[in-house]
Amino acid sequence: MKIAKADFLISAVKTEQFPEDTKPEIVFCGKSNVGKSSLINYLLGRKKLAKTSSTPGKTQTINFFNINDTFRFVDLPGYGYAKVSKKKKSEWPKFIENYFSSRENIICAFVLIDIRRKLSDDDKNMIRYIEYFGHMPQIILTKGDKLNQSDKVKARRTLSGELGIAERNILITSTLKKQGKYRVWDNLNSLFEENGLDVFVERING
Ligand code: GTP
Ligand code: MG
Repeated sequence: MKIAKADFLISAVKTEQFPEDTKPEIVFCGKSNVGKSSLINYLLGRKKLAKTSSTPGKTQTINFFNINDTFRFVDLPGYGYAKVSKKKKSEWPKFIENYFSSRENIICAFVLIDIRRKLSDDDKNMIRYIEYFGHMPQIILTKGDKLNQSDKVKARRTLSGELGIAERNILITSTLKKQGKYRVWDNLNSLFEENGLDVFVERING
């Protein structure tokens, strides 16, 4: 299928606002400014569907996007946003916790990590958190355009060792250079199949 429709559904700040969990959801997690909203736009071929900003902390709500009335993308606020107080920084807002604990329909949780940065404690906690709720984290290294080919390979190898995840299962994207989206869709298509869903997104549409 082609991505014929990609609509903003709702910005939620409390559990009651979450749409019914009747459609499979793919959630994008990661530190503030890592490129979650940009990646959503790039994957869908829509420039401004998810709001992006060079200032960290742009996304403050859980934003749901309806794709082809078939599945959803879910854009989360980033963690580790430096401007908020220490207390707030370490606090995982309740509505986000509720999101992970209450949704049986999450089929994929992408954890985005800036390819230039070291794996942070927040990233490790995020990965554990996703696993705790029974989901399988999928790692994406963002901003691939910021490193040359050999440094990209090195960064991926280091992370692979740290996390005990095979290198081939760590994807690299660049929304700036428009690289890596087919691998992401290949991954999602496999997950749709594993979950018994009759969904296949054609490469031509990304
Ligand atoms: P929060 O909503 O604050 O959590 O941030 P986010 O993770 O949604 O990041 P966002 O998509 O808003 O992007 C943050 C900044 O990184 C923006 O200035 C983007 O243009 C930039 N950016 C995103 N992806 C890439 C990329 O692949 N390469 C480069 N060079 N910059 C990128
Ligand atoms: Mg965002």
